[in-house]
Parts: sequence; structure tokens; C-alpha cells
Amino acid sequence: MTTSACLFAFFFYLSLVLLQLRTVMCCWRGGYFGGCNEDRKGITERSSYTATRCRGHYASLAEFGGVGDGVTLNTNAFRRAVYHLSQFTLDGGGLLYVPPGRWLTGSFNLTSFFTLYLHREAVILGSQDVNDWPLTDPLPSYGRGRDAPGGRYSSLIRGYRLTDVIITGDNGTVNGQGKMWWDKYRNKQLNYTRGYLIEMMYCDTVLISNLTLIDSPSWNIHPVYSSNVIVKAVTILAPLRSPNTDGINPDSSTDVLIEDCYVVSGDDCVAIKSGWDEYGIRFGVSSKHIVIKRLTCISPTSAVIALGSEMSGGIRDVRAQDITAIDSESGVRIKTAVGRGGFVKDVFVRRMNLHTMKWVFWMTGAYNDHPDENWDKKAIPVVESINFADIAAVNVTMVGNLAGIKNAPFTGICMSNVTVGVKFKSDKPPWSCTDVQGVSTGVLPAPCPSLESMVPPQLCPFPDDCLPIEDYQLLECFYTVSVS
Ligand SMILES: *[C@@H]1O[C@H](CO)[C@@H](O)[C@H](O)[C@H]1NC(C)=O
Ligand SMILES: *[C@@H]1O[C@H](CO)[C@@H](O)[C@H](O)[C@H]1NC(C)=O
Ligand SMILES: *[C@@H]1O[C@H](CO)[C@@H](O)[C@H](O)[C@H]1NC(C)=O
Ligand SMILES: *[C@@H]1O[C@H](CO)[C@@H](O)[C@H](O)[C@H]1NC(C)=O
Ligand SMILES: *[C@@H]1O[C@H](CO)[C@@H](O)[C@H](O)[C@H]1NC(C)=O
Ligand SMILES: *[C@@H]1O[C@H](CO)[C@@H](O)[C@H](O)[C@H]1NC(C)=O
Repeated sequence: MTTSACLFAFFFYLSLVLLQLRTVMCCWRGGYFGGCNEDRKGITERSSYTATRCRGHYASLAEFGGVGDGVTLNTNAFRRAVYHLSQFTLDGGGLLYVPPGRWLTGSFNLTSFFTLYLHREAVILGSQDVNDWPLTDPLPSYGRGRDAPGGRYSSLIRGYRLTDVIITGDNGTVNGQGKMWWDKYRNKQLNYTRGYLIEMMYCDTVLISNLTLIDSPSWNIHPVYSSNVIVKAVTILAPLRSPNTDGINPDSSTDVLIEDCYVVSGDDCVAIKSGWDEYGIRFGVSSKHIVIKRLTCISPTSAVIALGSEMSGGIRDVRAQDITAIDSESGVRIKTAVGRGGFVKDVFVRRMNLHTMKWVFWMTGAYNDHPDENWDKKAIPVVESINFADIAAVNVTMVGNLAGIKNAPFTGICMSNVTVGVKFKSDKPPWSCTDVQGVSTGVLPAPCPSLESMVPPQLCPFPDDCLPIEDYQLLECFYTVSVS
């Protein structure tokens, strides 16, 4: 190179560096006070939110042809926006901003290293056309759909084999408009299983927070074959008689944290599952290391926390504490049957406060609901080490209805410091126990003899370590999007 060419190159690069620096300074000065995106048309919105990860690129649904009038279908806008942001997976990831408005859509997939962010006044609405929820294969651990044999309708918001996904907002709403589905289901007009509101399948590192979910066609949040999932500060609402509108259903998933959630629905507030009979046994993936904290539940026809009935891959290490429920059918409920195989063990529950319940404790080994005729009569589920401490309940019809399996009793049931106020005019005996074994102390009304008194009295165990999933950090993140 000649000297002049060298000098030219030097000044050329210097000017590039200065240009970059100018942009950086501008953004740095700009911050909240504006001034950075002068060259961008229209108005930009800058704001902050908290999440476990921040992103490097932002876009608004409106930039992809989205129309938030509650009538225009935005399925393609969502798909295009997610596709656009998927190019940044290796460059800081992308955030899709859903502005104020009513955004009607069919099912759409998310991508990795991605945040779906809903403005406080954003409502994502589920399409009323079943064809906008395309059919997908049954879950391998179920062998068929839950409502009907064969496939199932896609979930509205779906993650499949993803890493690092966040769905959050400033309490924005996802409304499944499920009535159409409930009516069709009740009138036996559906040939396939209803979709869920949010399904994360084979995903790792998921945060679902600060949202309100309304009227799902069926289950609300379904992490399946997934790990490291946090569901936090989510409000879930559905009519008390709506069919199968379970709140949060971790299914064959590991390291799941559910905290500060409020669920009012027509089915279980939380249900932990792991596959159905011979399909679940063959698939063989358990749900384990599940933490539930500060859950508030209203579920007159179902459980606050259900374990099963699909539990054929096993359920292990569940830790639930500070649970409040009003007008619910049962507190923690274990449902299983011969044919399920699998196990439910190492379940720890403490500090439940319950008001108006049919049963505080309910376990059944005869939940005979099989996918088909090929279930294995020798597949006996194992239920052991189920621990309850510090439970207070009032206005209860029956304290406990514990029914294990003949010749395969549920064992290691422990209850300590349980005070239940039975309803004034209950005509039921407070307890019924068959094929169960365990210990108790400080339980009122006194339990059945199969829960022997502990001598000396001691508290039922609750692990004192924390699981890694409980030890997350929320960061303050920023986004800038053009809103016109
Ligand atoms: C939810 O929003 C509140 C403020 O509205 C914020 O303090 C909190 O950190 C958020 N939580 C999550 C998990 O995003
Ligand atoms: C979503 O992803 C799944 C799995 O890759 C795929 O089968 C399905 O067609 C996708 N759906 C849409 C709407 O793109
Ligand atoms: C979020 O919205 C729901 C439904 O309007 C409301 O019940 C709930 O209190 C709100 N949560 C927060 C944290 O504002
Ligand atoms: C269900 O199948 C029947 C018979 O094939 C058909 O007539 C009906 O339209 C289908 N219903 C739906 C909702 O797809
Ligand atoms: C028993 O449980 C109640 C809550 O149900 C709690 O307030 C109380 O402190 C517990 N007692 C002991 C001795 O831990
Ligand atoms: C007690 O429970 C019954 C239902 O079993 C309900 O009708 C009644 O209102 C409850 N009483 C109180 C004081 O909450």
C-alpha cells in the first residue's frame, strides 16, 4: 500500500468510528428523554419492564400490518413479526411489542431468544374460526387427544423446541374467547381436542409473567417436555363451569416455578401431569422439581393443586407453600388408577389456608379414565411420601377422603398441625380412609387410625434447600418501538 492510500484508509475508518460514537452518544443522552431515533418516521415509544433477560432488537406488531380493531385477523402479522425477529436469535434476541388494541388472531409460533410483550391495554383475542387453530399431532405421552381420539387443535400461542422465551406485559390480556369451544365441546360438535391458550413444548428457559389470561378454550398454560419454566404474577380467569379450563399444567416438565398467581376457573388451578397410561409409561418423562408459592385459587368443581390423573411418567419433588383457596372442591388432590403405572412421591405442602371446601385432602386410586383398551392391568402406580404441614381450613364438608389401591396402598402420608373447621350441618363423617398408611400429629378433627399418631410428635418434612429455579434475577429492560 502507498502512504496516501494508507492515510486515506486511516481517515476513512476514523470517520466510521466517529459516526458510530455519535450514534452511541445520542442513544446514551436520549434515554427516556427522546432524541435518538430522529431519523425514524413517526412517534416512538420507550418504556421499561422487568424480565429475566433483555433483548437487543424490538418491533411492534403494527409494523407488520397488524390491525388492533378486534375484527381484522392478525395471524399473518404475528407470524411475519416473529419470523422477522427470529433473525436476531444470535444477536441479542428480539422483542415483539403488542400495542394497545384488540388483536384477533389464530395460532402462531414463537421463536427462541424472544420476548412477546403486551402493553397494559393490549388484548390478544383467539379467533372464532376453528380453522385458524390448525390441527397438530397428539402428544406422544398421551397417544391421543384428551377430548377425542386423534390430533388436536394448535394452541393459540405456541413454542416448539425453543430456548429462552418470555411472554410478559404490564398485565396485558390474552382472551381465548373460549365460549365457542365450550359450546361445541358440550354439544359434541368437535372431532378433535381443543387447543390451549399457551403451550410450550420441548422448551427450555421460559418466563410467563404479568399477564391476564381469560376464557381459554381448555387449559391455560401448558409447559410440556420443558424445563426451567417460571410462571409469575399471572391472573387466570374463566367461568366456574367452563369445561377443562385448568390454570397451569406442568406436564412431563422439570424445574417449574409457579408464584404469585391468581386462578379462578372451571377446573384445577394447577395440575401436574406426566402422560397417560401405556403412552405415558412408554414415553417415560416425569414431572419433577415443581415449586408453587403464593397461589390463590377459586375452583368450586376441582382442586387447588391436582397431581394426575395423567401421571404415568411419574411426579416427584413437588413443593407447594402459602396457598390460599376459597370455594374450591379440594386442596391437594391425587388422582390415579391401575393402568397408569408411574408414581407420585416426595410431595411437600405447607401453609395452606382454605375457606369453604368439600374436601381438604382427597386421594383416589380408582380414577378409571383410560385412553383406549390397551392399558396394562399390571401397571400399578406408586404413591408415597406425601407431606402436609400447617394447614388451616374452615367451612369444610369432609376433612379427608383417602382411597388408595387394594394391595398397593398409598404410603408415607404425613400430616402435622392441621386444623379443619367442619361445616355446621355436614352430614358426612370427617374422614374416610382405605388402603392408605401414614402418620399424623396435631390434626383436628382426629384422623382415621391408618394415619398413626407420631411419637414423639414432630413436624412433617419440607425441604429447606431452594431449587435452582427459585434463584432467578429480574432485570430492568428497555424497549423502543415506533407506534405510528
Ligand atoms: C411485573 O410488573 C411489576 C410492575 O408492574 C414489576 O414490579 C414486576 O417486577 C413485574 N414482574 C415480572 C416477573 O415481570
Ligand atoms: C409451528 O411449529 C410447528 C412445529 O415446528 C409446525 O408444525 C407448525 O406448522 C407451525 N405453525 C405455524 C402456524 O407456523
Ligand atoms: C391484572 O388485571 C386483572 C384483570 O383485570 C386484575 O384482576 C388484576 O388485579 C391485575 N393485576 C395487577 C397486578 O394489576
Ligand atoms: C366432524 O366430523 C363430521 C363427520 O365427518 C363432520 O360432518 C363435521 O363437520 C366435523 N366437525 C368439525 C367441527 O370439524
Ligand atoms: C400451625 O399452623 C398455623 C397455620 O395453619 C400456624 O399459624 C401455626 O403457627 C402453626 N403452629 C405451629 C406450632 O407451627
Ligand atoms: C359454607 O359452605 C357452604 C357450601 O358448602 C356455602 O353455601 C356457605 O355460604 C359457606 N359459609 C360461609 C360462611 O362461607
